[in-house]
Amino acid sequence: MKGLILCAGRGTRLHPFSYSQPKTLLPVANHPVLHYCIRKLREVGVHDIGIVIHPSQVQIPPLVGDGSRFGATITFIEQEEPLGIAHAVQLAQPFLHDEPFILLLGDNLLMDSLHGLTRAFSSTSSDGVVMLSEVERPQDYGIAEIQEERLVSVEEKPRQPKSNLAVIGAYLFTKPIFESIATLQPSARGEYEITDAIQSMIDRGYQIVHTVTSGKYSDVGTIDRWLEANRWMLTNDLGKRYQVGADSIVENCEIVGPVLIGDGCEIRNCRLGPFVSIQNGVRLNNCAHIENSILLENSSLEDVAWNVTDSVFGRSSHLNGHSSDTSGVFLVSDKSSIRIPAVKREEP
Ligand code: G1P
Repeated sequence: MKGLILCAGRGTRLHPFSYSQPKTLLPVANHPVLHYCIRKLREVGVHDIGIVIHPSQVQIPPLVGDGSRFGATITFIEQEEPLGIAHAVQLAQPFLHDEPFILLLGDNLLMDSLHGLTRAFSSTSSDGVVMLSEVERPQDYGIAEIQEERLVSVEEKPRQPKSNLAVIGAYLFTKPIFESIATLQPSARGEYEITDAIQSMIDRGYQIVHTVTSGKYSDVGTIDRWLEANRWMLTNDLGKRYQVGADSIVENCEIVGPVLIGDGCEIRNCRLGPFVSIQNGVRLNNCAHIENSILLENSSLEDVAWNVTDSVFGRSSHLNGHSSDTSGVFLVSDKSSIRIPAVKREEP
C-alpha cells in the first residue's frame, strides 16, 4: 500500500504565517503538521509516500528529505494549479499505479492512528474507506449520510447537512477512484472535489465503508484551529508538565504546563502557560504572562507588562512592550517588529 499527502493548498486563511512558509510546515507542538502525517503513515506500515506540492513550496523538500529519517521513501509530485483534491490525486496516478493507497490532507491533524482505515479495508471487500468525525459546523466539510451502518452518500459543504459526520482528511482508495475522477466536473468553487469522486464510486456500485474516529481531529486551516490543535497536542505530549530543550536558559520564571520550550532559548522573568509552544532560539525577557500562544523560531518579546494570549509570533519577529499596559491578541508575521511606547500617565 502507498501513501499520498497533499500539501499544495495555498492556506490563505493562515495568512500572514502561510505567506512565508507552506501551511503544512507550520508547527503544532513544535513539529510541522506534515511530519505528523508522515509518521501516521509509517505507523500502519506505509513507507512509499508521495507528497503533492506547489512548485513554489521550495521549503518542503529540504525539510522532508528523501524520507529516510522517517524510514520512508518520498516522491514529490507537483500540482501547479489549485484545482482540488481529486485533481491532485489524478496527478499522482503515475506514482500510485494500481495499488491501494491512503490519502491524507497535509493540513489535517489526527490523534487516532490510521489503523481504523486499514482494518476496515482488510476486514471487508471494500473498494475504499473514509474516516469520519463528528464536527460542530458540518456545512464546512464533506458530509456523510449513513443508513443502517452503510455510507450511502457524501456531499461537499452542504447547506442542509444530513448528519454531523464529516469526511475528514484520511481516506483509503483503490484503483476505481481514478475512473471516477476522470468523470468529474469542477464544483462551484472551481475544484475537482474528492467527495464527488467518492459519490461517483458509490453510484457506480463500488463499496465504500467508513470508520468513525472519536479521537481529536483538526483541520489546521485557520489560526484558531492551529492554536486549538497546539493545545491538544501539547496536552497529549506533556499533560501538565513543561519541557525545556537543549542549551536553553530558563531563569526566574513561573511555568504552568503544558509548555514546550525548544533549543537555544533564553527566557527570564516570565510567567508562561498553559498551552505555549516556543520554538528554537526564542528570547523572552520580563513578560507578565503568555498563554495559549505559539512563538516561532527566533522571535523575541521584551518588557510586556500585560497578558499575551491567543497569539502567534512569526519567525524572527520582535515585540517590545516598554512595560506599557496596552493589551491585545498579537498575530505578528515573520521578521516584523512592534514597539509599543511607554504610556506617560497624567498626574491627578
Ligand atoms: C476538504 C474536503 C472536505 C473535507 C475537508 C476536511 O475541504 O473537500 O470534503 O471534509 O477537506 O478537512 P477544504 O479544506 O478544501 O475546504
